[in-house]
Amino acid sequence: MGKQVRKAVFPAGGLGTRFLPATKVIPKEMLALVDKPIIQYGVEEAIASGIEHIIIITGRGKGTIEDHFDNSFELDAELARKGKHELLAVSRGVSALARISYVRQKEPLGLGHAVLCARELVGDEPFAVILPDDVIDAKVPCLKQIMEVFDKRGGSVLATQTVEGDAISAYGVLAGSQDPDNSRIYNCTGMVEKPKFADAPSKQAIIGRYVLTPRIFALLEQTTPGAGGEIQLTDAIRALLKEEKVFGYIFEGKRFDAGDKLGMLQATVEFALKRSDLGPQFRAYLKGLEL
Ligand code: G1P
Repeated sequence: MGKQVRKAVFPAGGLGTRFLPATKVIPKEMLALVDKPIIQYGVEEAIASGIEHIIIITGRGKGTIEDHFDNSFELDAELARKGKHELLAVSRGVSALARISYVRQKEPLGLGHAVLCARELVGDEPFAVILPDDVIDAKVPCLKQIMEVFDKRGGSVLATQTVEGDAISAYGVLAGSQDPDNSRIYNCTGMVEKPKFADAPSKQAIIGRYVLTPRIFALLEQTTPGAGGEIQLTDAIRALLKEEKVFGYIFEGKRFDAGDKLGMLQATVEFALKRSDLGPQFRAYLKGLEL
């Protein structure tokens, strides 16, 4: 039984080059999925999972993320003046969502380095990591699912899903085997970041939800640049595995890679179809297309 997970770290310092030119000025985390910036989906998932404190790792040009989660005095005053109470509630709701702290990552040295930037704010307690590009639609929030595994098993837990073929090379990949008592739990024996297809130890890809023990920080400090010349979180978790248990959890839900153009389009279609205000009209529109 570990301590309670209260804090979630959101690495948001990356350059978002896959979405140029849209991300030349706008942070990729602020691109809208239907009508909400993609990072807000992650923040809402964290809150719905019981997280109390969000730590967003930002960098140059990411100021609009802070503005988004702050009060917007002029907008709110104007909406109030015009009697647009529903929209006012939407705007105020975003700033009331969560207690958020920001840390600037001065250089984009990799995901592991971004997580290390949260060390002082996290302190000596287990914490969650949410990669905002991974938008997950699930009945039970994905982070909540892995937090429950952490509560029961006590070791770090990584969300995972099966990825077929050479697409596996875009992920951190787990080595290990399914737990005999729970086929959703994967007992890790190793992991490798972005292996070649031929070298991938399994089809279990790491998806951007983690619960980690604070021991990871000391290991991140010792981690040297790995895949892509970056300080990789996967490499530090592999080192953690030598000292503590680490589990994968094959979560229930559907994940979209909103950091990728095709993934963003897929998420847009599926999220729009689910909306009561847009779904019926959008469905009729899609059916009328000659595909
Ligand atoms: C990161 C992690 C990788 C993980 C992936 C999930 O990679 O390094 O282990 O599988 O997120 O989205 P990135 O997509 O930032 O290259």
